[in-house]
Amino acid sequence: MTRVICVAGARPNYMKIKPVMDALERRGAEVVLVHTGQHYDPAMNDVFFADLGIRPPDRFLGVGSGSHAEQTGRVMTAFEPLIDEVSPDIVVVVGDINSTLACALVTAKAGPLLAHVEAGLRSRDWSMPEEVNRVATDRVSDYLLAPSPDAADNLRAEGYREDQIHLVGNVMIDTLLTNLERARASAVLDEYGLAKGEYGLVTLHRPANVDDPEVLSGLLKALGEIAGRLPLVLPVHPRASRRLAEIGVPGGIRLVPPAGYLDFIALQDSARVVLTDSGGIQEETTALGVPCVTLRDNTERPITVEQGTNVLAGRDPARIVSTVHRVLDTPPAPRRPDLWDGRASDRIADVLLEGGTASTRPRPTDQPRATDRPLPI
Ligand code: UD1
Repeated sequence: MTRVICVAGARPNYMKIKPVMDALERRGAEVVLVHTGQHYDPAMNDVFFADLGIRPPDRFLGVGSGSHAEQTGRVMTAFEPLIDEVSPDIVVVVGDINSTLACALVTAKAGPLLAHVEAGLRSRDWSMPEEVNRVATDRVSDYLLAPSPDAADNLRAEGYREDQIHLVGNVMIDTLLTNLERARASAVLDEYGLAKGEYGLVTLHRPANVDDPEVLSGLLKALGEIAGRLPLVLPVHPRASRRLAEIGVPGGIRLVPPAGYLDFIALQDSARVVLTDSGGIQEETTALGVPCVTLRDNTERPITVEQGTNVLAGRDPARIVSTVHRVLDTPPAPRRPDLWDGRASDRIADVLLEGGTASTRPRPTDQPRATDRPLPI
């Protein structure tokens, strides 16, 4: 039987790892769920396990918050002995958080095969810690599981071999489609006195947006102007809460606690527009057909702009306001990308388990590389 460690560490990991675990277990694999503890507040963590029906982690590393080096180092130190003890055939990491990179680095040196779900996404913005995590995780992975053709193309351009690259689709959309009806039954709109199509939903948590008071003040000014046309609801990420309290938010913007998974999908699904600096929300709005304005200068998910409902507005307040007015006047026509069909995790499990026990197969990375030229990144 193939033994697989599935790693999760923070809020955006849980909805990605759950369908992969299920698909592996349906095919008879033994799954060991490791939670690094990067996120630990009940509102960032426990509610997602309950909403998504994820079993309690088999192992909890309890690393908590810290600087990038502290957090990454603590995950590595705690994960290394666990690899020896569990002796998995494969380790699956998802996304681009510090826990993803930490477990990838340990696995690559310890011996098991490493699979990266959401491989190949690139913002080409090296000021984002997530970009460093993505590129470095892909570099040591055996299986590069890409959510979209642009991601697979990025990997080819960086010199990875075809037999490492698997275009499987988007696991986040597997979870969205599985839970959409349950989300639509949520009482959250009633609880906040909101009506479908009559509010905008905002999220802000990127260090580049919330850590610098000047940048955050500019964003809040823009949001205040938009709230003159459409009331806004902002579930507050813990990273942003202190600064938001210090600066104060303009009228028309309602701060609410972080939402659970089902409530947040319900809030997105009924919003007239979503304003965000998150990555995953760009994808969920595209799948739901809800207009999305991204408060960043770039996106590692260009397919949401090319085919979906996403528009990049940057961080300049005047540009944000004009972009939101334009999107409200002329909402973009959505098209759900191919392979965002609810079956990405099945394709992943087929790739990982094909041919029986993984340990009897050569690592894809044992093969000579197609090119020895330095990766152009
Ligand atoms: C992390 C990820 C980011 C992801 C985000 C989703 C990295 C580099 N960043 O960012 O890609 O989009 O999660 O939420 O891995 N905190 C709490 N309670 C918690 C967790 C965090 O209060 O449960 C506070 C702490 O003050 C902490 C800060 O939030 O220092 C930042 O947490 P951290 O995990 O370092 O990064 P995020 O900003 O959450």
